[in-house]
Amino acid sequence: GKGAFDHYMLKEIHNQSTSLSKTIRGRVDPDEGKVALDELDPEILDGVENVHLVACGTSYHAALFGARMLTDAGVRARVFRASEYAKMAGPTSDGTLVIPVTQSGETADTLSALRTATERDASTVTVTNVVGSTAAREADESVFIRAGPEIGVAATKTFTSQVVTLILLSQKIAAELPDASPREDLSELLAALEQIPNHIDHVVETSRAEELASRLLEYDAYFFIGRGMSRPVALEGALKFKEITYEHAEGFASGQLKHGPLALVTSQTPVFGLFTGEDAEKTVTNAKEAQTRGAEIIGVGPADGPGVAESDAYLEVPDTHPVCQNLLANIQLQLVSYHTAKQLDRAIDKPRNLAKSVTVQ
Ligand code: F6R
Repeated sequence: GKGAFDHYMLKEIHNQSTSLSKTIRGRVDPDEGKVALDELDPEILDGVENVHLVACGTSYHAALFGARMLTDAGVRARVFRASEYAKMAGPTSDGTLVIPVTQSGETADTLSALRTATERDASTVTVTNVVGSTAAREADESVFIRAGPEIGVAATKTFTSQVVTLILLSQKIAAELPDASPREDLSELLAALEQIPNHIDHVVETSRAEELASRLLEYDAYFFIGRGMSRPVALEGALKFKEITYEHAEGFASGQLKHGPLALVTSQTPVFGLFTGEDAEKTVTNAKEAQTRGAEIIGVGPADGPGVAESDAYLEVPDTHPVCQNLLANIQLQLVSYHTAKQLDRAIDKPRNLAKSVTVQ
């Protein structure tokens, strides 16, 4: 049950330190700088030349993050919305590894993309939460995110576990491919991942998202901007917000703002700036362009980050590895969405028109 929590979503947000501990248990060795994914037969990676990630919704945002990790490690990676895969993938071969990312393992569009990949001779490794799901049964190999059952329709803890699983898988792939190599700072990243459960507890306990939400009700629209590794976090922040508050929310690459979306910015459109990771300063510059048009800027980043002084409100994340800062920023945004939806009296665990598992195309 929900226990002491008003909603499953809040319980699942709080549960992320535990679920993420399970995701990484036995899989990270910071001292050796090594990742272990025991259920994955490494032979599946023989001859891999490029990677396609396919997913829908929140899982698509996790896939974007995974693709960035692969690209940084020198692996050619592309991301597709699963519903677009058959038409947009172009030629594939047995050198293509397709990674369907799906919490439920039952999403019709993602299963369809998986079947397309198999028909086109690609090899497939699904990243899923559900052992025994259709995706797990049909893919050549599976890597499980171990987040435990998620009841809230809005994905929270499963996103966090998907991202971390994809971080680990990306480094495993990079270690096996001749032209790629794991990150030089892999030991530091793995050590930071071991610390994330503590950092999550800290964020959840100290977050000021609830008081912020009470000031931000019923504006015209809410925008979320990020760049590079924080872009998927911005997109996910906006998706979560619209799903459960029913308010208009959009996520953009921060560099995209002045190419159109800036026309929408007024004093009635708060802008959440993801000031995390190496691209934070450029996002601060873009946020200031919105602020000049009257928008309130809510920065999300470390206490001594580049956007603190510029922000009208600021949600803090621990000053850990930049990759991990993005995950912690996402948790702040989960809390913002939750508390906004709660104060608007929305049906948080079962938003209108949405289903936990979308089994039709
Ligand atoms: C958002 C959400 C959906 C799912 C999407 C894919 O909170 O839950 O966008 O992420 O329907 O579902 P899975 O991951 O089960 O394939």
